Amino acid sequence: HSDGTSDLYEITQQVAQLQILPGLTTPAWTYGGTFPGPTLVARAGRRTTVRHRNELPGATVVHLHGGHTPADSDGYPTDLVLPLRGGAGSAPAATACMPAMPAMPCHGTTARSTPGGREYTYPNDQRAATLWYHDHRMGFTGPAVWRGLAGFHLIHDDEEEALRLPRGDRDIPLMITDRSFAEDGSFQYPSSDPALRVPGVTDAYMDGVLGDVVLVNGAPWPVLHTERARYRLRLLNASNARPYRLELHPQPPGGGGLVQIGGDGGLLERPVRHDAVELAPAERLDVVVDFSSYRPGTRVQLVNRFATDTTAMVMRFDISSAQVAPTDDSAVPERLAPVERLDPAKAVATRTFALRQSRSSGWTINGLPYLPGRALARPRLGTVETWRFVTDFHHPVHLHLNHFQVLSRNGRAPGPYDGGWKDTVDLRPAEAVELAVRFTDHRGAFMMHCHNLEHEDMAMMGDFVTE
Ligand code: C2O
Ligand code: CU
Ligand code: CU
Repeated sequence: HSDGTSDLYEITQQVAQLQILPGLTTPAWTYGGTFPGPTLVARAGRRTTVRHRNELPGATVVHLHGGHTPADSDGYPTDLVLPLRGGAGSAPAATACMPAMPAMPCHGTTARSTPGGREYTYPNDQRAATLWYHDHRMGFTGPAVWRGLAGFHLIHDDEEEALRLPRGDRDIPLMITDRSFAEDGSFQYPSSDPALRVPGVTDAYMDGVLGDVVLVNGAPWPVLHTERARYRLRLLNASNARPYRLELHPQPPGGGGLVQIGGDGGLLERPVRHDAVELAPAERLDVVVDFSSYRPGTRVQLVNRFATDTTAMVMRFDISSAQVAPTDDSAVPERLAPVERLDPAKAVATRTFALRQSRSSGWTINGLPYLPGRALARPRLGTVETWRFVTDFHHPVHLHLNHFQVLSRNGRAPGPYDGGWKDTVDLRPAEAVELAVRFTDHRGAFMMHCHNLEHEDMAMMGDFVTE
């Protein structure tokens, strides 16, 4: 529904039987019966209200990733939407603690819970961008997203529409995930119950859960029939822990077939041509591919160069064999959208966050496992700060509330995929990454965390409180 100032969506979180593998059904946790969930389309400056009803057998939390959202709609990890029907896992206090780290104290009593359903309100007061919504329940985000709780939320604005980028059915969001399946077709996720753990699987959990089949928009290795025209592909890595290096195979003549026009926080200043693009969990990359540069009838694979196994194949584009090119009035202009540069010289504070594994507490930030209500930083609204993240392992670091700009990696220039506004940055072993963030508009408690969802569930997360 919509009225003058806002759009209303109603989503029922429910178990659905999906057809993902031939001849088998996969019971999934879904937003509205599908995986991915419905794509919410929003207009910059116009409010979206989403009414979620929880008919799942467990509590959930909804977070809009990349949203500039007031704290009460941001999906604080203990701000639960309790299931409508009681059932396994529905007791709030007992289930809000960490399943993965049974030795950790349970903080479930801090949960603010809502039985049955609740409304989330998103002002969409931000640039056009590819956002996504997903579950964010404390200690359970990994299994909940793995079971299917993820969907796109796109924001459009006038600035972007004036550009004549490919649109309509040539503007395609692609949610890339990896999953493993049991023989009966059900999703296979390592058990969080220590009593049910298989030897060896615990380690697979520690470093993040990887699947052996890549799904694009919920389908294994799909084929998209394309015309010989430009397409905008909004790539999202919604995998729990797997990074990708995506490349077109074959490359178009001359290479540089993936023309990046945007990142997490919307359009770049100028397009960047890549032979391959890297995407850590939760990162988005908007690329334009010109299929008219291939011969009619070419089959182009999108491959993952980080893998040599079954996850090396992502999807295929089968280009129309018609000799006459279709009408395509789209363009990729040399100037896309101005990106205001945050000035690190104006930063009022520099903070360092060390992401480490600690022997006693699992995955931590500055030695501390996640504790709801404990603030690791208290930035003031309206100010710019420099945040340094250091690590000895691989962690995609994500901040809620505001997008940021990557200033440096190990004191040197940012990487090839770090341009523009971002909300997730891939931190590699022995790296120090410096970001500039300006905190704006909304007061309250927000999250910073590793977006390897198992690390997040194992408490590599912290609050920051804007004042
Ligand atoms: Cu995509 Cu705090 O999450
Ligand atoms: Cu987020
Ligand atoms: Cu991590």
